[in-house]
Amino acid sequence: MQIGKPASPDELVDRDSEVNAIVSKMRSRINYNLAVIGYRRIGKSSILTKAAHILSKGDKTVVVYFDVKKYLGDPKSFLVNLQAAIFNAYLKKLGRLERIKAKTWSLDPVGKIAEALSSKRIKGIGMEITNSPSGDIGIMPKLEFAEKDIDYMHMFLAVFKTANALAEKNGIRFVMILDEFQDIVNLHRYRGLKNILDLFRSVIQERGDSVSYIVCGSHVHLLRSILSGGKSSLFQHFTQIGVGEMDKKNSMILFNAYLDAKGQRQDNKTASSAYDLVGGQPYYLMALAEGWEPKKKISSVFQDLITSSVGSLRLYAEYVLAEDIATAQGGPMLKAILIKLALSQTGLSYSEIGKALGISTTSVVPYMNELVKTDLAVKEGTAYSIRDKIVREYLRLNMV
Ligand SMILES: Nc1ncnc2c1ncn2[C@@H]1O[C@H](COP(=O)(O)OP(=O)(O)OP(=O)(O)O)[C@@H](O)[C@H]1O
Ligand SMILES: [Mg+2]
Repeated sequence: MQIGKPASPDELVDRDSEVNAIVSKMRSRINYNLAVIGYRRIGKSSILTKAAHILSKGDKTVVVYFDVKKYLGDPKSFLVNLQAAIFNAYLKKLGRLERIKAKTWSLDPVGKIAEALSSKRIKGIGMEITNSPSGDIGIMPKLEFAEKDIDYMHMFLAVFKTANALAEKNGIRFVMILDEFQDIVNLHRYRGLKNILDLFRSVIQERGDSVSYIVCGSHVHLLRSILSGGKSSLFQHFTQIGVGEMDKKNSMILFNAYLDAKGQRQDNKTASSAYDLVGGQPYYLMALAEGWEPKKKISSVFQDLITSSVGSLRLYAEYVLAEDIATAQGGPMLKAILIKLALSQTGLSYSEIGKALGISTTSVVPYMNELVKTDLAVKEGTAYSIRDKIVREYLRLNMV
């Protein structure tokens, strides 16, 4: 088990209902698209990894996993990497199928792909076979962009269309998993991609029966508003699967499994207290298990991890705050508001926040909207509070 990396299918604790929901919808005759939504480090990628593992065992399903956020530097690298992910997932499946059928590697993948692309009149996408030192072959796409005045729209549509072409030509299905999907909006500043969500919607609408999409993301508020928001409503096309905290029983199993992997004895009493401290958030439970030694009190481990300058929970809270506040408007004031919220037991209303900071109630409103947009704060009734327990504790213990 490794903190931070998605759990491998055999390490995954619990989550059967989420995994089964994904697998059964993807196998159904109805062509679903799914949105897997849950806050940071709650276990989305681990769930998707297992679902992908189960789905790709079938001969007729190609699963493409693509991390949108990782390749957003510029549209060229985004499209080249997405195309590579599509071709290589297909190649892997083709290799397996051919071996099963002919018991030899008698492939001409480039020819096969080229044929599929031309059947759909997809132009400007070439490819080259690459060999890795270990002897595995791969495909490197060659996308032909115009020399100047690049308009990325055509290539954006063409790359997604290659999945349809390959699926239809071969009588197979593609499941396209787009992780951290909400970040795709960042492409809107490039030529031809201004209406990126409308473009993606047209990809979805033209995908035929053989390609399904699973979008996934940790910016819950943003992703929900992309899926349901006004003009670019993608919502009707996606079935949402929420990923929340684990229950106490499974949280204790996870905590104990981590102790086990460290070579320590399982300890139900400590596991139970760990859950009481941080709830059923797998990443927090693992951080506690990592820091705990027999005879130590778990509450003091928690205290250390969140106050020490090298404590993993402190570093995590700082990372979350830095990232979320950086994307929001009004940095210093947001931080001041968060500190006030952290100190309140019951949450604060607009007027209470205004009073605490000596600003007018109306000027509080836009700040709170920003905090909700970034998932830092939540509103219940009229009171705002900090959503994440660890962020709240971090502010309470270190900032006042
Ligand atoms: N059910 C589980 N069983 C075992 N480990 C888990 C489980 N859920 C999450 N983890 C562990 O918690 C950490 C976070 O999980 P994961 O990366 O899947 O979450 P995520 O929601 O995709 O996070 P991010 O928002 O960072 O993408 C990883 O170290 C993973 O191994
Ligand atoms: Mg993830």
